[in-house]
Amino acid sequence: MNNLPDFPWDRLEPYKARALAHPDGIVDLSVGTPVDPVPPLVQSALVEAANSPGYPLTHGTKALREAAAGWLRRRHEVTVEPSDVLPLIGSKEFVAWLPSYLGARRVVFPELAYPTYDVGARLAGAEATASDGLLALGPQHVDLVWVNSPGNPTGRVLPVEHLRKVVAWARERGVVVASDECYIELGWEERPVSILHPDVCEGSHEGLLAVHSLSKRSNLAGYRAGFVTGDPALVKRLLEIRKHAGMLMPAPVQAAMTAALGDDAHAEEQRERYARRRVQLRPVLEKAGWSIEHSTAGLYFWATDGTSSWEQVSKLSEIGILVAPGEFYGSAGGRHIRIAMTATDERISAAVRRLQ
Ligand SMILES: Cc1ncc(COP(=O)(O)O)c(C=O)c1O
Repeated sequence: MNNLPDFPWDRLEPYKARALAHPDGIVDLSVGTPVDPVPPLVQSALVEAANSPGYPLTHGTKALREAAAGWLRRRHEVTVEPSDVLPLIGSKEFVAWLPSYLGARRVVFPELAYPTYDVGARLAGAEATASDGLLALGPQHVDLVWVNSPGNPTGRVLPVEHLRKVVAWARERGVVVASDECYIELGWEERPVSILHPDVCEGSHEGLLAVHSLSKRSNLAGYRAGFVTGDPALVKRLLEIRKHAGMLMPAPVQAAMTAALGDDAHAEEQRERYARRRVQLRPVLEKAGWSIEHSTAGLYFWATDGTSSWEQVSKLSEIGILVAPGEFYGSAGGRHIRIAMTATDERISAAVRRLQ
């Protein structure tokens, strides 16, 4: 497998070493890994299901699928049949394998994007095209288009009108649209909308998949919990392949995910934590010379002080703050940095003091 990109995070190591040397320790805002506790009700559900000697179902329990459908209806005005829900062992594995499942030859994803869309295309031996303009793609057939709203790394929300155009374009050409909605619950200045919302897809899920993750909403990155839903025929095909390939979510995690999807209070509490961190960090970053672009939703600030992304990474590492260079997400990110809200309140306060 020699067509995979180098793992870029290794290049951050020298800056991490510098940040670690700060007398008051590192404030690591470079990755989006949750640091706040797993909600107690979710932990209890996991423990109660600990005695699970048999193989779990690839399709997940009925309770899990009903909980996912219920959450989509309650929170996002999306109606799906529970039978059209398919559990994922975290959404990343699905992002990486979907092009292979579809036998895709050409995959399109946003210019600034989560790197796994590209990796998935490469794993399938497909052509990978980073493009925000579908009209500029030319006559060559496309099999799969990824959209990601709110987006990583920019925190940009795609409006209903934009999503409608993507769906119409794809339907005219028989292209599958996969919408990565893992940050959908983290809307701040804008309300993110699912690709499966009736205003976008006019009630038909044909050719559409929405990918969801519990990692950020419920601090479950360590459990590996997500799901995909949408076009019933597509979901059925995916289920068949995943059954053969043994892509089974562990039964205790299924129970934990069911509990998480059935409860909104813990998700609201987590949202409030991120909201507070944003309010603390934004003004000091702006005062220190950064302007924040997009970032109306999601887990990150997409910021620039006008210099190269590595210069900004270097400058912040000197005061013990580690951020990700925008370049990791595409060449268009060469003058930006991505700043994550995933550090404890204590570490965020340390960053605020250092930036002042
Ligand atoms: C855009 C995007 N999609 C998918 C994922 C994967 O999330 P998980 O595998 O934890 O569900 C991430 C993780 O940060 C992400 O940023």
